[in-house]
Amino acid sequence: MNDRQAIGIDIGGSAIRAACVDLDQGAMAGPRRSVDTPRPAVPDAIAGAIAALLRDELSEPGPVGAGFPAVIKGGIAMTAANVARDWIGTNVEALFAAATGRPVAVLNDADAAGLAEMRFGAGKGRSGVVIMVTLGTGIGTGLFVDGKLVPNTELGHIEVRGKEAELRASAAVKTKKKLSWKAWSARVEEYLQAMDDLFWPDLFIIGGGVSATPEKFLPRMKVRAPMVPAALANDAGIIGAALFGAERPRADV
Ligand code: BGC
Repeated sequence: MNDRQAIGIDIGGSAIRAACVDLDQGAMAGPRRSVDTPRPAVPDAIAGAIAALLRDELSEPGPVGAGFPAVIKGGIAMTAANVARDWIGTNVEALFAAATGRPVAVLNDADAAGLAEMRFGAGKGRSGVVIMVTLGTGIGTGLFVDGKLVPNTELGHIEVRGKEAELRASAAVKTKKKLSWKAWSARVEEYLQAMDDLFWPDLFIIGGGVSATPEKFLPRMKVRAPMVPAALANDAGIIGAALFGAERPRADV
């Protein structure tokens, strides 16, 4: 690994994915590695899985960053919407450092994906207010103002029709309720319209696994702000985590 590379880790509900990332190209500098997310996904089990991944597959020295699906402040998980409740109050950075023997900078997973999209993907060169929305197990958001991240926005939890948006419109809900693309995109549209009314963004970047087939749902939705699919697909979380690992000023976030 050279000094323009770092390791990015994306901790998700079903898999933990990692790779060495080229920080100038915003691309994989080595093979993607992944392990199943341990069940139950409690802190020690996840830390052990990450330690094994770094020890066995990605052992070269260098910065490491990890995206985690919760609010992360000062390295500490403050929420646990789709992960085990034991995470709340856990110092995730200290836990991972102890397990792996190296510093690991941790940030919210959607913030990580957004950082990558803004630097290298669908948000490149875009100023104003940009909102990255990841449609997955939950709904994650990354808010950018003139390219700068406002960390830890949890806009997947705003209420639409009296219910948390992520409980109506995540990709997991589509699968669970066997919703057609038409029915599901109507729900996503309503969510994005609500966000539009509150934030008046200049751009929505739509990410998550569904961004691989944007033609199935993006054209069905009418929202004032322009919407574009994420360009880096599933790699955005890994790339953004690596950027954060390499660039975060130590006193920041
Ligand atoms: C969590 C967010 C996370 C999103 C996507 C939500 O349930 O509250 O922190 O970014 O899921 O994983």
